[in-house]
Amino acid sequence: MGKPRVFVARVIPEEGLALIRETCDADIWPAELPPARQELLSRVRGVEGILSLLTDAIDAEVMDAAGPQLRVISNLAVGVDNIDLDEATRRKIPVGHTPGVLTETTADLAFALMLAAARRIVEGARYVQAGRWKTWGPMLLLGQDVAGAALGIIGFGRIGKAVARRARGFDMRILYYDPYCREDPAAQELGAQCVDLETLLRESDFITIHVPLTPQTRHMIDDRAFSLMKPTAVLVNTARGPIVDPEALYRALKDHRIFAAALDVTEPEPLPADSPLLTLDNLIVVPHIGSASVATRGKMARMAAENLLAGLRGERLPYCANPQVYEAGMPSA
Ligand code: NAP
Ligand code: GLV
Repeated sequence: MGKPRVFVARVIPEEGLALIRETCDADIWPAELPPARQELLSRVRGVEGILSLLTDAIDAEVMDAAGPQLRVISNLAVGVDNIDLDEATRRKIPVGHTPGVLTETTADLAFALMLAAARRIVEGARYVQAGRWKTWGPMLLLGQDVAGAALGIIGFGRIGKAVARRARGFDMRILYYDPYCREDPAAQELGAQCVDLETLLRESDFITIHVPLTPQTRHMIDDRAFSLMKPTAVLVNTARGPIVDPEALYRALKDHRIFAAALDVTEPEPLPADSPLLTLDNLIVVPHIGSASVATRGKMARMAAENLLAGLRGERLPYCANPQVYEAGMPSA
């Protein structure tokens, strides 16, 4: 029997790629940019497995283009909003993802962005680079204190909790909003209080977003949400761009209705160089690097490869985003 054919949508760290090459006939997309739609549709034809990135929309059209032998989709990300999960489930195709291994790395970035926006670090660095630093100034680049402030966490899952652990070290008051204010032992341990979204928006000095992108969370942060925030509030988004309405964000920052924002994710992504958002001094944007450490990307690649190979062998994926696929027994190998 020949090796199973798979399409790998980008060159990923060797920790994963080596495993895939050993056992598969792998077509690896070599370019820096993702395959264009037509290219993706043509490259997946006849494959049994797809290793996708969050930049690849994997929907019914892609699954049809691949054909009925497609047995597994493995996403190199924890978020799976780029994949039509219902469609995959309907076709009994398990979808793998990479939860956990990127939690601390992403929480580090969220906290770094929070500190950077609060203390105007990027603005300060630009000021020095531009040769504008003449003296110590009593009114120069005044920011907001992080220590002792109130932190509102939207989405109290793995990354939300990891941010809360960091906030404890800064003596912050921690509020969180999650669909169910259920008994959560982690919340008690962290001294975190579950509140409704409106209370969180009104009372927080810093607001950090850690929900998945779903129909319920799309544009969750809109004009109304900004109108509830303190004028000194700092918003950080390391989850998914479309959770924040970009036009409402522009208005809130431009009119100084909030103090600052910092984004790792944007709508659209990438943000065009002529986006009005990039004209604002009180906004920091970095290019979706939440999980971008050498070690974490290696672990993600390995995990994504393990999911892919398990699916090809007809075994249960170690990290499956649509476990319902197994409800009526295992998909056929
Ligand atoms: P997670 O553990 O599943 O946490 C998500 C939390 O959000 C869960 O507690 C979930 O509650 C809650 N939630 C879902 N819908 C909600 C809603 N409508 N309102 C309030 N809370 C809601 O996921 P994670 O590992 O922390 O990752 C979170 C997200 O971060 C990912 O989906 C991904 O989009 C993003 N991410 C970005 C980067 C980056 O590079 N910037 C890196 C990693 C992850 P339930 O469990 O009850 O549904
Ligand atoms: C990155 O954004 C992820 O979802 O892993």
